[in-house]
Amino acid sequence: MAKGNPYSADPFPGISKWKNEAVLVTGASSGIGWDIALALGRAGMRVAVTGRRKEQLEELLALLNDCGAKGLAIPADFSREEDIANVFERIRSEWGGVRVLINNAGLGYQEDLARGSTESWREMLDVNVLALTLCMQEAIKDMESAGLGQIINISSVAGHRVPLGKQFGMYSATKHAVKALTEAMWGELAAKGSPIKIGTISPGMVETEWHAKAFDDVAKAQQRYAETKSLQPDDIADVVCFLLSTPAHVQINEITLRPIGQKV
Ligand SMILES: NC(=O)c1ccc[n+]([C@@H]2O[C@H](COP(=O)([O-])OP(=O)(O)OC[C@H]3O[C@@H](n4cnc5c(N)ncnc54)[C@H](OP(=O)(O)O)[C@@H]3O)[C@@H](O)[C@H]2O)c1
Repeated sequence: MAKGNPYSADPFPGISKWKNEAVLVTGASSGIGWDIALALGRAGMRVAVTGRRKEQLEELLALLNDCGAKGLAIPADFSREEDIANVFERIRSEWGGVRVLINNAGLGYQEDLARGSTESWREMLDVNVLALTLCMQEAIKDMESAGLGQIINISSVAGHRVPLGKQFGMYSATKHAVKALTEAMWGELAAKGSPIKIGTISPGMVETEWHAKAFDDVAKAQQRYAETKSLQPDDIADVVCFLLSTPAHVQINEITLRPIGQKV
């Protein structure tokens, strides 16, 4: 993980229009969300970060402050609806609401559908699907009252094709749901003539804590990263900065990126 790497927003001058605006990055306590939060803080945004792990969020907040950014760390368990509501209430009371939402919190468990447990299915569905939808719903309230906003949902290549033989059936189903929900929300916004933009980023393999948690095996995850040069979290942060730098009339609905060498 490229924690705290220097990052310049200069390649994306259009991102300056978001200076001092509030962004919520979910799942920011590690991995992709961590790097997105830092990149947006360095671009001058006010950055609210969530996740369950309070200490990591405090560490991230200190890094945001080091680079001159205003931050807000709000610990929350996204399988609990009241925690999600609290995150938005806190941002409204501190900063007047969210203008950009990076819907990134997510997890996957590697297990056969024939033997998987309802407990792990429910957790993936709660966080990857329901929490993501509730966050869109809450954020759109703020964005509509401001007449401005952008939502970026983090999906996966597994949201476009099922990785057969990899035991990620339910995870893949949740990311296919992200694709459907993003498109459905785009349709609702477009029907209203809304200026709010929405799209997904679908990464292939990124080197984070994700695989160790998914496999329940750190060594297996490290072996996977050694076999194929993976994407790094700041590669995804670059794509976020690009999407936020586009002119008001340009809406990019989907970007898929894989590391060279990935075969699925
Ligand atoms: N790594 C990859 O190869 C890859 C590829 C494609 C897509 N993605 C997607 O990218 C996103 C970020 O994953 P990552 O690779 O950065 O993995 P990661 O390092 O494991 O980060 C996952 C983040 O989600 C948060 N999260 C998980 N369960 C949560 C819960 N119940 N409540 C609140 N937050 C929760 C975690 O925070 P806490 O643990 O502190 O709660 C953490 O901040 C996920 O949606 C993932 O599916 C990853």
